Amino acid sequence: AITEIKARQVFDSRSVPTVEVDVHLAGGGWGRGTVPSGASTGKFEALELRDGDAGSFQGKAVYQAIGHVESIIAPALLGLDATDQVAIDQLLCQLDGTENKSRLGANSILAVSMAVAWAAARGSNVPLYRYLGGANAKQLPLPMIQIIGGGAHARATTDLQDYLVIPVGSTSFSQGYEMVVNVYQATKKVFERHGKPLATADEGGFWPTGFSTNEEGLQLLVEGIEEAGYQPGKEVAIALDIASSEFYEEDGSYRLALENRSFTRDEFIDYLCDLADRYPIISIEDGMAETDWEGSRKLTERIGKRLQLIGDDLFTTSVPRIQKGVRQGVYNSVLIKMNQIGTITETLDAIESTKSAGYLPVISARSGETEDATIVHLAIATNAGQLKVGSVARSERTVKWNEVLRIEEELGAAAHYAGKDIFKRILS
Ligand code: PGA
Ligand code: ZN
Repeated sequence: AITEIKARQVFDSRSVPTVEVDVHLAGGGWGRGTVPSGASTGKFEALELRDGDAGSFQGKAVYQAIGHVESIIAPALLGLDATDQVAIDQLLCQLDGTENKSRLGANSILAVSMAVAWAAARGSNVPLYRYLGGANAKQLPLPMIQIIGGGAHARATTDLQDYLVIPVGSTSFSQGYEMVVNVYQATKKVFERHGKPLATADEGGFWPTGFSTNEEGLQLLVEGIEEAGYQPGKEVAIALDIASSEFYEEDGSYRLALENRSFTRDEFIDYLCDLADRYPIISIEDGMAETDWEGSRKLTERIGKRLQLIGDDLFTTSVPRIQKGVRQGVYNSVLIKMNQIGTITETLDAIESTKSAGYLPVISARSGETEDATIVHLAIATNAGQLKVGSVARSERTVKWNEVLRIEEELGAAAHYAGKDIFKRILS
């Protein structure tokens, strides 16, 4: 049973306050959850409660959220069985009582939900992935890893947000990870050769200084893949997170500020299809804006059989939004972020509805992260198949990748690697 719940304010990888909760059980088990925070957040996400007091961490302190854990959540949860995750998460939603967790804050609720899961797993003496996923949790994810970080994670130096790679030629997680590390190191050389400073963006990828077009990131990335000795597309493919809601204008146009170009919906679809024709791209996230369902549907019609098309801001890990997308034939993959929805149980529900629709889930970190590695366990527990954590630099990123390496070792011969075959389910 839960005997103590303690909440505190700690700091994320951008030095922004965030909520951390410890849950203690009778008999000595305990768990901790530390929540991440986005920068290019979708407008349909659950609410991240911040104090808004300009005199305290520029309005971003989370003392109210912490107060809610101690005064409202803790009294209601003390004495409950931590292994009853579904009932506890339901109770958390009831205590909040709003659609988007705006009363208690999704940050306070999620920290508790995560800490309860960790405490229950430790109390049962099993790893979290096994506790959440059961005996069949064994699939190591294909990694999607950022090499160049732009958009909201680099002061909009580029309009496109993430230039990532997927080691499609790999046959194990550790081999795939090694390939990406090689691409990262090779791209460092490519940047030096092009006279670009080696600054680091929010998720650990290279900061795109002095780019004159968004396409330049793709050119450098292809050069980096080749420099590392891999065949672009065959061994290492490119993924993009366009995060287009960030540059979608009220009049329905898409504006690439770097190039001083504006596109209509149809022109922007042409722009993306053209990039997909000319570069070894296998995946595009948020190609169209979070409110542009029609554009998203049209983009899917055009290239949804050739590419993974991921909805992040469009779906916000919400079952009704995912189901709407499935009904309308929009995209074929869903980015899964726990703090977009606010509890472990609702996240598991979103993964389940993604899979049952034949879409692919991609478990994802946020741009503001911590030393918390819960998402790694979530990815393996659900045999999700893909994991996106930012780059291979900065400890809030490597803490996740290193955890996959440890679990790969622990599972040994029982491990199954997702590999590029997972795309067979959606591509023809
Ligand atoms: P965010 O970025 O955490 O800033 O929203 C991650 C993403 O867009 O996938
Ligand atoms: Zn995204």
